[in-house]
Amino acid sequence: MLIVVASQAGPGLRPAFAMRRHIAIIRPVSRSIVDCELTHLAREPIDYKIATLQHDAYRQALVDSGYKIVTVPRADKMPDAVFVEDTAVVLDEVAIMTRPGAVSRRGELDAVEAILQDYRRLERIVAPATLDGGDVLRLGRRIFVGRSSRTNDAGIEQLRTFVQDHGYDVEAVDVHGCLHLKSAVTAVGDATLLGNSAWLDRAPFDHLTWIEVDSAEPHAANALWLGERVIYPSAFPRTAALLRAHLEVQKRELCRVDADELAKAEGGVTCCSLILSV
Ligand code: GLY
Repeated sequence: MLIVVASQAGPGLRPAFAMRRHIAIIRPVSRSIVDCELTHLAREPIDYKIATLQHDAYRQALVDSGYKIVTVPRADKMPDAVFVEDTAVVLDEVAIMTRPGAVSRRGELDAVEAILQDYRRLERIVAPATLDGGDVLRLGRRIFVGRSSRTNDAGIEQLRTFVQDHGYDVEAVDVHGCLHLKSAVTAVGDATLLGNSAWLDRAPFDHLTWIEVDSAEPHAANALWLGERVIYPSAFPRTAALLRAHLEVQKRELCRVDADELAKAEGGVTCCSLILSV
């Protein structure tokens, strides 16, 4: 179910946004999601129907935000396939197919690549490197990459070689206590981050505005910033209040969606899409 708590009708698109076509690549929830990879969470039952309803609402929130949806076919034999963000890093100039740290997830890439090749020139991370898209946070021409249980130094280095000629700086960030860099911090504006300081080294972000999650909501740092709107889980009301206060000053909207069933699979709102413009 989509809960819109602090959103006005219509995306209210700015002219610069309206001049390009905006695409969200998503993949339906796999029937096997209950068998997903888990690193920091205890396994608990996941209701496929509820997860699918929540994913449908997420999809609608993207549509309402001005995005055309491109759907990768469902992959029932790959439990984590809904978390399509981990399969690629998409920039304006190039897309880099990742090499996920979890072996069980490497089969997810082929179907995503078949779609992305219509939109971008592709590069590929190769062994022994590993890289999950959930570890990659872009802010303008700076790309922060989590050094995590899923992404190794070779993955960070290969990413750097693919993007540096396009003018991007790549900076590694140590992550601990959570799955990905974007479990610990996400962008909610051009120079504003939402984060949980307990899960990363904050030094690389010192020059940016930092909104700290409420201490009662450690998992609240994952938000999907879409320019005019931030899509955000309804499970974190305290942090949502902090975030809404910040966004209102900038005349931006908070669009809250139920995502707790997918969160049991250790996935957040950024994990469920690849966002690009053409
Ligand atoms: N369950 C999401 C992941 O571990 O990649």
